[in-house]
Amino acid sequence: MSSQELTFSQVVKKRYSARAFLPSPIPSDVLKDILLKAQCAPSNCNTQPWSLHIVAGDKLRELSHALTADLKAGNYSLDFTFDKEAYPEPFRQSALEQVRSYYQALGVARGDNLSRSEVVERNVKFFGAPHVALLFIPVVGDNVRVALDAGMYAQVFLLSLAARGYAGVPQAVLSYFAQTVRRILNVPEDFRLLYGISFGIPDKTHPSLSYREGRVSIDESVVWHQ
Ligand SMILES: Cc1cc2nc3c(=O)[nH]c(=O)nc-3n(C[C@H](O)[C@H](O)[C@H](O)COP(=O)(O)O)c2cc1C
Repeated sequence: MSSQELTFSQVVKKRYSARAFLPSPIPSDVLKDILLKAQCAPSNCNTQPWSLHIVAGDKLRELSHALTADLKAGNYSLDFTFDKEAYPEPFRQSALEQVRSYYQALGVARGDNLSRSEVVERNVKFFGAPHVALLFIPVVGDNVRVALDAGMYAQVFLLSLAARGYAGVPQAVLSYFAQTVRRILNVPEDFRLLYGISFGIPDKTHPSLSYREGRVSIDESVVWHQ
């Protein structure tokens, strides 16, 4: 890893969702520095309403076993609803395109249900990452504002990982098992699970890292007024 500082533009371009990792952990002093940077994220009235549980080692294996069992049994316990079908166009189309390009990179054919379930299962195995961060927020009203603050925090965390040559992947799938995560990590009931982020050293030889997601043009997402 280079000690030279990357420019903002380089860091933004370097960040992507990695879905395969090497087993070696990030040294704890480096991880603490990454977390100090993430803590600079803005929030409503500087409330900083996030609580990050970072899991590694035996606890990570325990969590993975429990979530794999929940996934296989269909034992879901979401704190927040998530309905991909509810997205209107053109956002729904973007989601379909993401799934298509990801499965294509992995060489999984349409209708290949066994491979597709293996791909989903890789989420609860944290894609082989040595660390997972579970992002909780306190219960505050309808939680929209707090979730927004936590999203800002997560993005600075992801960029901070990228700046150091590491990578992560935010995973809504991990929030499907909120009760199990809370029980295993001993998290109070009044903290809700937004999502998890598996992170570490990306395994650049894995086929899932052979592609990058596209973006719509700014003409589609920005409206100018003057
Ligand atoms: C809140 C959130 C939840 C996500 N959940 C998952 C997930 O459960 N599994 C997964 O493989 N990727 C997940 N992703 C990653 C997205 O698919 C990814 O960010 C998107 O396709 C853009 O690709 P990029 O991050 O490589 O630029 C999630 C991203 C976000 C921001």
